[in-house]
Amino acid sequence: MASKWDPSKWEIHQLYSKHSDLRKLLPPTSILTPGSLSKYLDKYPSVYVKGKNEHTGSGIIKAWKTEKGYRFVRVKGKPVDVKSIDELYDKVTDGRRAKSVLVQKTIDLATIQGSPFSIRVMIMRDGKEKWQYAGMLAKVAGESSVVTNVRRGGGYAATIENALAQSLGYGRDQIESVKRELIDHGFKLIRYATKSGYRSHEAGIDFGIDHKGKIWIIEVNLAYPSYELFNRLKDKTFYRKIKGLAGDYQKSRRKTG
Ligand SMILES: Nc1ncnc2c1ncn2[C@@H]1O[C@H](COP(=O)(O)OP(=O)(O)O)[C@@H](O)[C@H]1O
Ligand SMILES: [Mg+2]
Repeated sequence: MASKWDPSKWEIHQLYSKHSDLRKLLPPTSILTPGSLSKYLDKYPSVYVKGKNEHTGSGIIKAWKTEKGYRFVRVKGKPVDVKSIDELYDKVTDGRRAKSVLVQKTIDLATIQGSPFSIRVMIMRDGKEKWQYAGMLAKVAGESSVVTNVRRGGGYAATIENALAQSLGYGRDQIESVKRELIDHGFKLIRYATKSGYRSHEAGIDFGIDHKGKIWIIEVNLAYPSYELFNRLKDKTFYRKIKGLAGDYQKSRRKTG
C-alpha cells in the first residue's frame, strides 16, 4: 500500500467513519454546500465551518440562526449578521473553492469561567519506532474566541487536571479515568491510521469534552504537531518527554538512513 502523508480534515473524517468505535467520537460533518449548511443550521443550535486543509485556527467560523436571519463569528472577530442563507453561504465560503470547506455540528465544549477548552494529546514514536504517550494539556479559548488554538485565539494552556476539575467538577478518580480513555482513544486513532496506510511519527490529537462529559474528536494531526504548547505549562515534564522522544526518533532515523 502506498503511504499517505498529512491527510486533510475530510480524509481523516472519512477514515474514522469506517471504524465502528471511533465513528462514535466524530461530530456530524459534511462538505459545505448551500444545502448542507441549511440542513445543519436547522438541525443543530450552531455549526463550525472550516477549510479542509487549513490549520492553526485560521478561517474557522461559528454560525447560527437568529430571529432575523443568521449570525457568524470568524475566529475572534465581531459577530456579523446576515439576512439570508445564501448570503451566509457566500460569507462563510469567503472565496474558498467549493468542496474545500466543511460544515460540522458544534460540540458543546465544557468551559472554564465561560471559556471553552479542547484537549491536546501527544503520541510519538520513540527511538525504536514504538508509539509512546508523551503528554496532554487543555487549550483554553481566549476571550470571545470561537477557537481554542492558543496563539490565534489568545488563550492559554492549562493542565488537564485543572481543566476537568474547574469545568466539570471532576475529582481525582474521574480525572484519571478520562485521561486513560483519551490515551486509549489516541492509540486507537493512530493504530487505525497507520494500518490504513498513513505515515506518521508524531501525532497531536485534539479532543473535545462536552458539558455532559462526553469525549469527541475535534482534529487528528498526524504531522507537525506543535511542541511549544507544552512549554507553556509550568511543569516541564511533558515538554521534556516530547523533546526527548523527538530526539531519540531523529537519532534512530539517522542511523538507519
Ligand atoms: N465542531 C466544533 N465544535 C466546537 N468547537 C470547534 C469545532 N470545530 C472546531 N472547533 C474549535 O476550533 C478550533 C480549531 O478547529 P480545528 O478543526 O482544530 O482546526 P485547525 O486545524 O485550524 O486547528 C478547535 O480547536 C476548537 O476550539
Ligand atoms: Mg486544531
